[in-house]
Amino acid sequence: MSHGASDRSSVAGQLEQPAGPVLAVRDLRVAFRTPLGLAQVVNGISYDVEPGKTLAIVGESGSGKSVGTLALLGLLPSGVANVDGSAVFAGRELIGLSEDQLRPIRGAGIGMVFQDPMTSLNPVLTVGRQIVEAIRAQGTASKGAARARAGELLAEVGIPDPASRLDAYPHQLSGGMRQRVMIAIALAGGPKVLIADEATTALDVTVQAQILELIQRLQEEHGTGVVWITHDLGVVAGIADHVLVMYAGRCVEEGNVDELFDRPVHPYTRGLLGAMPLVDDPRPARDRDPLATMPGLPPDPVALPPGCAFYPRCPVRADTRCADEVPPLVSVAGSGDAHRAATFYAPEGA
Ligand SMILES: Nc1ncnc2c1ncn2[C@@H]1O[C@H](COP(=O)(O)OP(=O)(O)O)[C@@H](O)[C@H]1O
Ligand SMILES: [Mg+2]
Repeated sequence: MSHGASDRSSVAGQLEQPAGPVLAVRDLRVAFRTPLGLAQVVNGISYDVEPGKTLAIVGESGSGKSVGTLALLGLLPSGVANVDGSAVFAGRELIGLSEDQLRPIRGAGIGMVFQDPMTSLNPVLTVGRQIVEAIRAQGTASKGAARARAGELLAEVGIPDPASRLDAYPHQLSGGMRQRVMIAIALAGGPKVLIADEATTALDVTVQAQILELIQRLQEEHGTGVVWITHDLGVVAGIADHVLVMYAGRCVEEGNVDELFDRPVHPYTRGLLGAMPLVDDPRPARDRDPLATMPGLPPDPVALPPGCAFYPRCPVRADTRCADEVPPLVSVAGSGDAHRAATFYAPEGA
């Protein structure tokens, strides 16, 4: 799979040629056929996932974060979801592949960890059996070899006494331990990309920090590209290299993490970061829950407004242009291409 990259570096005669993204998503669109009409849930998302780096996709509930990643692996209900655009993984276009072609890519190419390990794990099978199945789904390992590998994976994700934990059932483990098991299953195929979708949302803060640390360590050891999906911008600062902020199925702002946190431009991002008071709230920014205090709701994906999707909630909207035109995602002045935003608003000093 890495032939292309090594050919290029030998042609260039350089050893330190950057390998390029392992996953490149371009203009991804997902619409659902619903009784009320076409729900346009993902409306042209583009991003790169680099080996060993973390891309955070942030946005409030319903912004299309999960649908946009499930679409890559053909995990949306067939017959009702229209998926368009491109997603090239390790040189191969994923969009349009059949179920049979995608199955080996799930797990061995792209691993996924979801929010609720209690519903993702099978309650009637031991965790050892579930990891063994994930290992054997990838190839021809014997039962004995797969069980030995399962024990190694449990050790790798920081589960104490892994040999005896193989025989535990999910309900015998804590929430944090169950999430570690899910990570072990996701790692069983040696994925190049790990998609963690609200993977720590159900965990208390201490356990959340341990899981974040674990993923960072595994990422360093294996050079995995991580897509970290969350509604919680607070988690992102410590782990992401690049941040993409989604609103109503579009990217409203993206940039490298320092740039985006230091100089947020889009009123939505500024609201999330407390850089712009959205309602009269005397408390300091760190004590507010920005999503709870942002008035209004995202638009109905069946009836997207013609202009900026954030227009109805925007505290600094201009009444004509913002209502009529979708602001394009363009480079923020002075940022090179490290920071882009989709707004007609230009904050002072940004
Ligand atoms: N099978 C489906 N049919 C119709 N709409 C759906 C379906 N699955 C998800 N949606 C809608 O897609 C939107 C985005 O959902 P999702 O990607 O889960 O949001 P997020 O992960 O950002 O919270 C929501 O409005 C949701 O109701
Ligand atoms: Mg989701």
